[in-house]
This record gives sequence, C-alpha cells and structure tokens, in this order.
Amino acid sequence: MIKIDETKLKKVYDENLKIYLEKTSRSKELFERARKVLPGGVSYTIRYYSPYPAYIVRAKGTRVWDVDGNEYIDLWMGHGTHILGHSPDFVIDNISNKIREGTHFGYENIYAVEYAEFLTKTLPNIEQIRFASSGTEANMYTLRLARAYNKRRYIIKFEGGWHGGLDQIHIGVTPPYNDPETLGLPHDFVKYTLVAPYNNIDVVEKYLKTYDVAAVLVEPVLGAGGCIEARRDFLKELRRLTQENDSLLIFDEVITGFRLAYGGGQEHYDIKADLVVYGKIIGGGFPGAGAFGGRSDVMDLLDHIKRPKGRERSGHGGTFVGNPVNMIAGYVLVKYLYDHKDLYTEFNNRWDHARRKIDKICEENDRICWTTGVGNMLGIHFTTRRPWDHRTTRLEKINDDLPKIFHLYARNRGVLYISEDTIHLLPSMIHNDDEIDMFINIFTQYLNEILR
Ligand SMILES: Cc1ncc(COP(=O)(O)O)c(C=O)c1O
Repeated sequence: MIKIDETKLKKVYDENLKIYLEKTSRSKELFERARKVLPGGVSYTIRYYSPYPAYIVRAKGTRVWDVDGNEYIDLWMGHGTHILGHSPDFVIDNISNKIREGTHFGYENIYAVEYAEFLTKTLPNIEQIRFASSGTEANMYTLRLARAYNKRRYIIKFEGGWHGGLDQIHIGVTPPYNDPETLGLPHDFVKYTLVAPYNNIDVVEKYLKTYDVAAVLVEPVLGAGGCIEARRDFLKELRRLTQENDSLLIFDEVITGFRLAYGGGQEHYDIKADLVVYGKIIGGGFPGAGAFGGRSDVMDLLDHIKRPKGRERSGHGGTFVGNPVNMIAGYVLVKYLYDHKDLYTEFNNRWDHARRKIDKICEENDRICWTTGVGNMLGIHFTTRRPWDHRTTRLEKINDDLPKIFHLYARNRGVLYISEDTIHLLPSMIHNDDEIDMFINIFTQYLNEILR
C-alpha cells in the first residue's frame, strides 16, 4: 500500500490553511456570527467544510462568488440541481413575469396539470405522477405507497444510499451501517429497514427470502455515497428478483433523474422501475423540488375518487406541492432538456473523458486513488482498491486527510464542491473543457505536492 508522508501532507495543509484564512476574512466573520444563531454555523451540516465555509453571495452559470469576492468554478451546482448552470436566463425570464400573478395559489392550477402531462408523456414508465416539496418528502410518500400496495413491511436500502432525512431510512448511510445515523432515532423506527451492500445481489436475495419485503429502494448510481455506479447485472437482478417476489423496485432518481440521461437511470440502464422518485432538477432550480411516479395500478392507491375513504388509500399532500413556481420553472427547464436530448451524449462523453484522464493520473501516482461513476457523475476515492460499494470508500481509505486537504487546496485555487470527505462532482452541461482541465491540473498539482 502506498505510504503517505504525513509531514509533507501537514506542510501542504498548513500552507493552504494560511492562504484560505487570508482570502476569506469576511466568511470567517460570518461564520462566527452564524455559529451563534445557526447550530454549527450552517443551515445544512453537509455544507460545512473546515475551518469554515465560504459564504456565497451570487451564482451564475458555472460560477459562484463568496462574500470576500472570490470566484469559484462550482462543481456541486446546488446539490446537483443546476444541470444547465446557475440561474439560466431563459428559465428566470420565464418565471419572473409569472410570479407577479402568484407565487403559491394553494389551489389546483393549470401549470401542474401541464407539467404532469409532459412528464408522463416523456419519462420512461411514468404513467402517473404526484409532486412533492423535496426529495425527502417524495421518498417518504413513495415508501408508504409501496407498503400500501403490497401490504408488506420491509424496505431494502443500500449502504451509502442517501434518500433524505426521513426517519425510516436514516440508517445505512455511513458505517456502522446497522445503527441509526442520528441521535433521536430509536431503533424501533428503522426496524423494517434492511441494509445491503451496494452491488451485492446475494444479500438482497437472502433478505427477499427471509422478510416480507414491500420494496427495494436503490439509487442507480450512488450519489452522496461517492458517485458509485451500479453494475448492470446488479440492477437487472434486482429487477428480476423483485418481480419474482412481488416486491416493488423503486429507483431514487433525485440525482440521476434528468442527469444520467433525460430518462435518468431507467434510460441509462434500460431497466423499468415500478416507482421512481425525483427531486432537484425537476423543480427547475427553485426550492420545493420533488415528485414520485410510476405504474398507474400502484399510483391508483392515491386516488381519492376511486377510494373515497382515507384509510383505503395511501395519503399524500403538502402545503407547497404543485406550486406554480416549481411547475413553470420545472416545465421550462425540463422541456429544454427533452428538446435537446443530444446534449446528454456530449455531456457524458466530456466527463467520461475527464474520468479516464484522472484515473490515469491516479495510476501514475502509485494508485493513490480511483475514479468511479458514470457519465457526468464523477467520484474520486483515495482507497486501496477500486470501490464498487460504499464500505470500500470508508473502510479502505488510505488516509482520512487526503480528500480534506484537497478540498482546501482546490478552493484556494478557485474550485468548489461538496463534501470535503468525498470528492463527488455533479457538474452542469455548460462546464467547458477549460474548466475541467483546470480541475484536473489542480488535482495533479496536489498529488505532486504531497507525493514528491
Ligand atoms: C438520491 C437522493 N435522494 C433523496 C434526497 C433528498 O432530497 P432533498 O434534499 O430534496 O430532500 C437526496 C438529496 O441529496 C438524494 O441525493
């Protein structure tokens, strides 16, 4: 195994910490203020990186700017939301006049009908759809719906799979995978959740034989888990086994939807899921993005006309669901993606090429790292072998500080992403070759500094 010279690493860290402190004094001040009112100084824990985050004031295209005036190439793009870059003019122009007529009606509206018609016409296997206010919410209602459909209890999820903060699947995200991820979550709340290693069909098969499994919930490519792609056979087998077992196959496409391909993981892997969960891109860049849809015989359980009694159907709702802002912006942006599907080939090729280049650099540097992912979802892991599951990324790390110090190193040189523990990039279609090369050069330079 490659040996890291800790003294060299510490030197790179110290030098870069000094630069960061010099460049970000206003962020430091804001962090100190924020810590008093926002626990940990942030609104969302994953957005923290040490010693404090750069607080952002503006975002446009592929760039974000912090309060100190530093400009960054953004490779995180609003948690993977902004596939056409930050604030695309045609979306903003379209919505800005419309919101004068109401931001949130609280009544049914034409925009939700039109958007649902469009999505069910253009997305694979989505016969009916309902909107939600986040990916978390969409997952919550989907799991309920699955259980309502086959009257079973257990859900299988995968190690490293992040599906939002809902209690029942707030387990199996980080090791130890069988402990709830948080305080305040009694084990009883997750007792019907089974956690399997990603890309491991044997464990799933065993669970399906042993428990009454309502559904298998899977990301076609682990997103927050480090952009680790499913092996084709794994997903195919999941499809076959769930069918055999009368369990539902749910694709969580909150990241992969409209990203891997217009039709997300279903299209990329050519696999039909029973239910699909969407978020992020589906909201057109505005908060409140979420949806779930799929087989109409399952979605039927939400239909209050066919099932007038509340307890005979699966409940779903929310104050902001189907609001005009998300519906209009989502429709405008998603229709653009549909009308320009050819952009996906170029987009994925560009990042496949980047992945190959970075992997070669890893190889030339004593295999200090491995690349993962598919198309535009790119992970880089400092592990002893190529990860095909999340446990390898965590339990076979060469050194905890390598990705952390790279994060600091990259941000000092004008590249930003999240998180500092895991290099996983969710770029936009408008990032160009120069920006990619800049990232690759910074990465190469980093390896040179710590290894030579
Ligand atoms: C695959 C996946 N599912 C669900 C969620 C939760 O979505 P939200 O943060 O909109 O609640 C996320 C968020 O990152 C995600 O990556």
